[in-house]
Amino acid sequence: RTIRREDYRPPDWLIDTVHLDFDLGITETRVVAMMALQRNGTHDRPVRLDADGSWPTALRVDGIATPWRKDGEGDEALIVAVPNASAELVIETRLTPDQNSQLMGLYASGGLLCTQCEAEGFRRIVPFVDRPDNLAVYSVRMTGDRSAFPVLLANGECVETGDAEDGRHFAIWHDPWPKPSYLFALVAGNLVANRDSFKTMSGKTVDLAIYVRDGDLDRTGHAMDSLKRAMRWDEETYGREYDLPVFNIVAVDDFNMGAMENKGLNIFNTKYILADSDTATDLDYDGVEGVVAHEYFHNWSGNRVTCRDWFQLSLKEGFTVYRDQSFSADMGSATVKRIEDVRILRAAQFPEDSGPLAHPVRPDSYQEISNFYTATVYNKGAELIRMMATLTGPERFRAATDLYFDRHDGEAATCEDFVRAIEDGGKVDLDHFRLWYSQAGTPRVKARLAHDATSGEAVLHLDQSVPPTPGQPDKKPMAIPLRVKAFDIAANSAEGAAEEQLVDLDTGSQSVALGRFSRPPALSINRGFSAPVTMEIERAPGELAWLAANDDDGFARYEALQQLMVETLVARIGGEAGDIDALVAAITETLKGADADPAFVAEAVMLPSEAYLGDQMLVVDPQAIRDVRRDVQRLVGQKLAPRWRAIQSGTATDHADVSPLAKGQRRLRGAALAYLMASGEADAADIAFAQFEAAGGMTDRQSALLALAHGDSPLRQRALDAFYDRFHGNPLVLDKWFQIQAWAMRDDTPERVAELAGHRDFTLANPNRVRALYGAFAGNQASFHRADGAGYRLIADLVIALDAKNPQTAARLVPPLGRWRRFDDARQRLMQAELRRILETPGLSKDVAEQAGKSLSG
Ligand code: ARG
Ligand code: ZN
Repeated sequence: RTIRREDYRPPDWLIDTVHLDFDLGITETRVVAMMALQRNGTHDRPVRLDADGSWPTALRVDGIATPWRKDGEGDEALIVAVPNASAELVIETRLTPDQNSQLMGLYASGGLLCTQCEAEGFRRIVPFVDRPDNLAVYSVRMTGDRSAFPVLLANGECVETGDAEDGRHFAIWHDPWPKPSYLFALVAGNLVANRDSFKTMSGKTVDLAIYVRDGDLDRTGHAMDSLKRAMRWDEETYGREYDLPVFNIVAVDDFNMGAMENKGLNIFNTKYILADSDTATDLDYDGVEGVVAHEYFHNWSGNRVTCRDWFQLSLKEGFTVYRDQSFSADMGSATVKRIEDVRILRAAQFPEDSGPLAHPVRPDSYQEISNFYTATVYNKGAELIRMMATLTGPERFRAATDLYFDRHDGEAATCEDFVRAIEDGGKVDLDHFRLWYSQAGTPRVKARLAHDATSGEAVLHLDQSVPPTPGQPDKKPMAIPLRVKAFDIAANSAEGAAEEQLVDLDTGSQSVALGRFSRPPALSINRGFSAPVTMEIERAPGELAWLAANDDDGFARYEALQQLMVETLVARIGGEAGDIDALVAAITETLKGADADPAFVAEAVMLPSEAYLGDQMLVVDPQAIRDVRRDVQRLVGQKLAPRWRAIQSGTATDHADVSPLAKGQRRLRGAALAYLMASGEADAADIAFAQFEAAGGMTDRQSALLALAHGDSPLRQRALDAFYDRFHGNPLVLDKWFQIQAWAMRDDTPERVAELAGHRDFTLANPNRVRALYGAFAGNQASFHRADGAGYRLIADLVIALDAKNPQTAARLVPPLGRWRRFDDARQRLMQAELRRILETPGLSKDVAEQAGKSLSG
């Protein structure tokens, strides 16, 4: 069944007060929910509550036991007649948390009880008006065995605790802020806390706690520091203060996503809380900081102002991603952060936007909302906010967000409400810009610079087109803000160039005068990646190399070098030689900045991924891409071998130092080692193994292990075994062991992944483990797309097996099979056959059915 945005209407009945009483147990939890119901408007329709298996063991209306019935094709609702305009409704349910393998609603993770209610999990606890436009005040009483559940947590503040009979105890929590049911949370278990406090800008003290299992406490310091930095940053940058006296975080092993912003009680995947330098890489540290900030920022962009319906998901997710990106940019290098964010956008969102699952940032329809927690809603959504901030400038953007929070505080709002607040507060016309919310597909912009030798006039000619996407065959031109600057190539530096312009490309074709130059200038366009588009630019010889060396926008410098690499690689894939020497010269030039900004240099000198190269081709040839990329890596490795050696052997950093500089040095060291390994120099594997053994932390250890994992030196297995022996007791590090082997660019990777699926440490019950093995493998282009189809079978087998337990996580592995249109006929047939096999599986979830169905036909 398809849900459509245009069918939105407010709920017939509202619930504004909820008292929940939980009698906790891992095998059985009993719930009594007491709810104040109000008829919304005048009508005579019965109460229809969303439900998902949580059928009442008792139901009373104003104290009277009342009959009810199931409703809907899939029994997704409960209907009960209520005679008056308001009533007290009591529903009792019995849940079996340890059988909840979907990890939605109330479930057991280890000996712990926890919840995940976004998007539609609350209805698995008790039938409810389970939609985000029903705001209610919750109080929660939990009673449970004191030894099994010494810690009892819910949203808001703890108002009472005490003893109950038979060694049990209870706690009552109250959250004064009205909220939708998806923000409800409860945790009960044996946990220890890292406690701290934060003084808000108005002088209030907030008690902070991060709850983890005993033994994990000494890995929570970075998360706590990140939380305090995020709280301060949101005050300083957006004027947003925290609004409760406590803020709790709990980390759990089994979690479908990264984390969840439940009011006052964020629940996290351990992956985004636990970090120390021996077990987490620098990138893991960045992930913790970014996700802790993201969930915290939701307190305003999501909780205080929430979404009217799930079509508006990007209202909170796009904005909150933009906010966490800005925060991380402020905490480290803004340029490197921008490079990383654009890389994620291109790797995850662009393919989505050009395939069968393409949808607008504000989708028009869905079958299963869990399938719409996508790179489009999150990452492209963040790009939309960024473009609006570019159009207003920072001061007016701040005025606009102040207006937005002020105007909609306590409401369930829409994307349109957000755009209107930016227009009103930011004094900008976004009439045409709104199309970004409704029109899917990545716009293509062609740029050509014409230079008149006599007048010196340089004119930029731009053309845009938006490709068709499912359900949207004809597209209108978008409003595309392009930051543009032209440089005099002869100047040999960025100095004295004309001012940057913000070009608003809002028609199909447009020409812009860039000023007078004595010779054709170098064109720097879409600087800072000001718009999420693909550019096709006519370049003069030497222009990219000049920009890579001299552009005064860091992102544009990176982009120019990447483009030079793409051109060389694509030429060689097409059977030409490409200009390797020019590429080596440009890399050499970039390496001069290694001491000053090693993180940037590390990003810039790495060859584009196999997948990105595939995206540049009409028909993806995964094996040719792998062979050519590896060959160019070997050539660059050889020609610059002394540089790579020097960087790799240069000062090994202290992993406890997580300053941007030290992190950058380690990142560059990893890049140097990768080139050294590729070079085929006789001692390369020994160098990698030595780095592995002597590593002072996980960053150097993982980069060394990964370098070895691609090859076939005997040291490969030795390193993998040593890593396993040392770390197999730590689930997050063991995930790396699986992941690295699934990433290996080797011919036998499909066989190896199949073997690892049978390893005693592999389990379908833990989403992190599944993603570490199969998610990593599906992203390993040439291995997943091996010509015999072994990779496709592996993923389809997994989707089918996992769907029976955890549809949400299973559905996330379907899209790689949906990319079949990009490949040759033989691969297309193999991929389609696997999609069909999935679709023919009896009892398929609607999550997987939607993704596989659309992937086959969309
Ligand atoms: N709102 C969470 C976040 O992005 C994501 C939770 C989504 N969970 C889910 N089961 N769909 O911060
Ligand atoms: Zn979020």
